[in-house]
Amino acid sequence: MLSSSPLQRLGINIDHVATIRNARGGRHPDPLRAAHLAIEAGADGITAHLREDRRHISDADIARLKAELTRPLNLEMAATDEMLQIALRHVPNACCLVPEKREERTTEGGLDIAGLHNTLLPYVERLKGAGIRVSLFIEADPRQIEASARLGADIVELHTGAYCERALDDDAAGVAAEIAKLAAGAKLAAAAGLEVHAGHGLTFNTVGAVARMAEIVELNIGHFLIGEAIFGGLHGAVRRMRALMEEARLAGSSRRSA
Ligand code: PXP
Repeated sequence: MLSSSPLQRLGINIDHVATIRNARGGRHPDPLRAAHLAIEAGADGITAHLREDRRHISDADIARLKAELTRPLNLEMAATDEMLQIALRHVPNACCLVPEKREERTTEGGLDIAGLHNTLLPYVERLKGAGIRVSLFIEADPRQIEASARLGADIVELHTGAYCERALDDDAAGVAAEIAKLAAGAKLAAAAGLEVHAGHGLTFNTVGAVARMAEIVELNIGHFLIGEAIFGGLHGAVRRMRALMEEARLAGSSRRSA
């Protein structure tokens, strides 16, 4: 992603705006509106995961994001021929290759780059050939980092899910171990010439320890922020609904008494 911040870039993942929209079908809430709002609030880029089962983001969302966004689009996708064709059609700023299992609720664990070198190589080559930066979502494991560099990726995104789970469990020793792993991984990846991103499960409570790592130049955050936005925004939305109801009643009664 391009930089608008001298510090660390923030990519906002808008998948779960689409999750809420899809719960009813229709168009509300619109992930594009959320993307524009996120950018207005200081996001450096927008991330969207087009899943094979289209459970949240749709093909049309990707087309609109690409057409309308004023900041870079990071398209998360599985390494499949279908997704490759979509990426080549829309040419996002970056593609983040992620593992995908139909039955999972979210992206569990990183890609096994070491084991999938030959499978992934043509995808990396085609994407890079089209001018798309290639990011690989991996665990902060030296074997995976070295394999990512060998594969020719531009970026690795380190999976922060295990760290965030230990934090949720109040497991201080586990948190320390995961943070040490992420810090060592970030250093190793940067030394291997990879741009280092991180994300998954980050919250207001967990972001600090990762944001502090100098080698990590971008964080991608979604689920927590979309959830938190409910609490930031519900109050005003309810008040506006009440005001509209009251306005309508008053207008009705003044028509009746006229
Ligand atoms: N980075 C990657 C590669 C992801 O797959 C996800 C989840 O879609 C995220 C970051 C953001 O995770 P979260 O929604 O938990 O903040």
